[in-house]
Amino acid sequence: MVKLLILGTGNMANSHATAFKAIPGVTLVAAVEIDPARRAAFGKEHGITNLFGSLEEAIAWGQFDAAANVTPDAVHYDTTMKLLAAGKHVFCEKPLATDYPHALEMAETAEAKGVINMVNLTYRNSPALQKARELVSAGKIGAIRHVEASYLQSWLVGKQWGDWRTESRWLWRLSEEHGSKGVLGDVGVHIVDFASFGADSAIQTVESRLKTFHKAKDDQIGEYKLDANDSVVMMTEFANGALGVITATRFATGHANDLSLTLYGTEGALEVKTDGKASSLKICAGADIDTQTWKTVDCPPVPTTYERFIKACNSGINGDPSFRRAAEIQRILDLCFDQDVARGKKIG
Ligand SMILES: NC(=O)c1ccc[n+]([C@@H]2O[C@H](COP(=O)([O-])OP(=O)(O)OC[C@H]3O[C@@H](n4cnc5c(N)ncnc54)[C@H](O)[C@@H]3O)[C@@H](O)[C@H]2O)c1
Repeated sequence: MVKLLILGTGNMANSHATAFKAIPGVTLVAAVEIDPARRAAFGKEHGITNLFGSLEEAIAWGQFDAAANVTPDAVHYDTTMKLLAAGKHVFCEKPLATDYPHALEMAETAEAKGVINMVNLTYRNSPALQKARELVSAGKIGAIRHVEASYLQSWLVGKQWGDWRTESRWLWRLSEEHGSKGVLGDVGVHIVDFASFGADSAIQTVESRLKTFHKAKDDQIGEYKLDANDSVVMMTEFANGALGVITATRFATGHANDLSLTLYGTEGALEVKTDGKASSLKICAGADIDTQTWKTVDCPPVPTTYERFIKACNSGINGDPSFRRAAEIQRILDLCFDQDVARGKKIG
């Protein structure tokens, strides 16, 4: 039995509420939201009666075991530290923090407190990624030599998610002053985790290049200076010795939200694809190597991050991806941002 509190009741909180409610033994006991109208609507929608305007009030009330932190990125650190101090298990949205030192402090604090600490890296829910990792770990493709991973979106080209030129929910994502860290800050955490989890190896070094393209007159629309990165290319070396290229862009015309990972080993290769809803896995191994024949691999369903968090709360054994894992990824992203600053930024 897990009594869960949801912190922040914006868009993504609905996915959390729906997913957690469907898990046997979970009760959504409370929600915290600073916006009164959103708080009331969320309570009504999900049948939650204990509604609080601040986390402090909810902690003083105290009648919950665990919290799902679904606040904006910059709020994760402060709120999670308060939950940890109160001895609560925490399932935090990605990115865990906005920089490595904060993410590391969160991981160390959670570990010292002995509470369950996990991050919602949703693409771990892809059966194809989990199966690929299993095959890599079992040695089915030998030693990995080369990795290609990409996260492709095209909302700066197509209008499938609305018009970025006129809608504030997209414009803020293009502007550093408005809290955006560009495509790297938004989805970099997903694709770095996807690549290194699939390859079953940590990323040790990275050399990266970020680019902000000229998109509007004077690179400004209304109050929004369009200075956040639109594309990133990383060259990486993994702990297992493999070299890799990881890319992410909002200019991938023809792709709404596609992740792909290809792992090339000495005895075979694997190709993982997902759009966040369905996933697929292909393998080229054994005699097929000589004819470059790729075969589809069946991938059984896997538990979601939400289910694994509840399992961890019930068992007392922490699950993956943990805060420490998220901090490791944050370290890689910080290196990319530092290299960008050192290079001197220009738009165009
Ligand atoms: N894992 C994924 O695939 C995925 C997908 C979408 C969003 N996210 C993440 O989820 C988080 C939330 O994103 P969103 O799109 O729901 O944002 P949102 O802006 O729609 O919702 C955030 C809510 O938190 C509230 N809030 C802010 N500060 C608060 C505080 N101190 N206490 C209580 N409530 C507070 C805001 O008022 C807002 O209602 C972000 O970190 C985002 O990166 C993850």
